[in-house]
Amino acid sequence: MKDQYGRTIDYMRISITDRCNLRCRYCMPEGVELVSMGEVLTDEEIQQICMAAAQEGICKLKITGGEPLVRKGCVELIRRLKQIPGMEQVTLTTNGVLLGKYAEALADAGTDGVNISLDSLDREQYYLITGRDELHRVLKSLEDALAAGLRIKINAVLQKDINGTEWKSLIELAKEKPVDVRFIEMMPIGYGKQFEPVFNEELLQMIQGEYPQIERDVRIHGNGPAQYYRIPDFQGSIGFISAIHEKFCESCNRLRLTSQGRLKPCLCYGDSYDLRKALQNTKNDKENLESIRKIFQEVVAKKPKQHCFEQLNDVTEEKHMIQIGG
Ligand code: 5AD
Ligand code: SF4
Repeated sequence: MKDQYGRTIDYMRISITDRCNLRCRYCMPEGVELVSMGEVLTDEEIQQICMAAAQEGICKLKITGGEPLVRKGCVELIRRLKQIPGMEQVTLTTNGVLLGKYAEALADAGTDGVNISLDSLDREQYYLITGRDELHRVLKSLEDALAAGLRIKINAVLQKDINGTEWKSLIELAKEKPVDVRFIEMMPIGYGKQFEPVFNEELLQMIQGEYPQIERDVRIHGNGPAQYYRIPDFQGSIGFISAIHEKFCESCNRLRLTSQGRLKPCLCYGDSYDLRKALQNTKNDKENLESIRKIFQEVVAKKPKQHCFEQLNDVTEEKHMIQIGG
């Protein structure tokens, strides 16, 4: 599908649950209210939506959450989504706590890549950020996932007052292991508004200070807006996702599906279209497919030109990342 600005929309992120086994302070602090299970899309509904999406040209899916691996049957769902005709790539974003347990099964299901969210390699800091003492499990999962042959990227969000200097140890992961390490600027969505980000421009300068040989890596690494750099002798690359200062909206390729079945044209705005209701209002699979396809066309036609994170008053998205999918 092409939108009105000429962008090809071929990628969809799906939040399959808003539940999570961590409590990251910028995402889902203790006490946050959860959507009731009955409101969350079923496996069948997700499959139907993805089938329609594939017919509209969506050929890449990212399974996210909350924490997708806390949803029962996540691996089987991935297996089935991979089998949809035209679906070229299904990848997963996880906090890594349960990844070790499912690594082999995910590889077997055909998972094309896994992003692990990991903001610190320091146990205390990790606990301060996530509210749980699970760093050791995430590190074990990383080993297990690599051993299972999964393609791994690490995603880190830096916050000035806690893990602002943790990039030093995080990038070492890319030296020691064949993983890309990417820094995502904290976005002013949900609780993220309350914390001070480390901006990537500044971060790159600090990294350049330590590794003057770092240089741009123009190879394509994935579906996203990351810019990559290479450091000689490192196995993986270093990526920067600079939501605030680098407007990457010009090359945006994505839609988002919330755990409750709302299709969103852009992360930044509250607008969404209720696919679940559309599914419930139709009688048979054929009608289903057609009504969902039509909504996809509408949403793509209405996709905004760009986000407005630099003008906070214009950000109309009030949901939290766990519902939308990070
Ligand atoms: N800004 C940037 N990234 C965020 N994530 C969650 N909330 C935010 C935010 N406000 C990230 C997590 C994880 C991914 C799923 O989304 O750190 O890497
Ligand atoms: Fe869970 Fe990821 Fe949100 Fe942390 S950032 S609470 S791991 S969904």
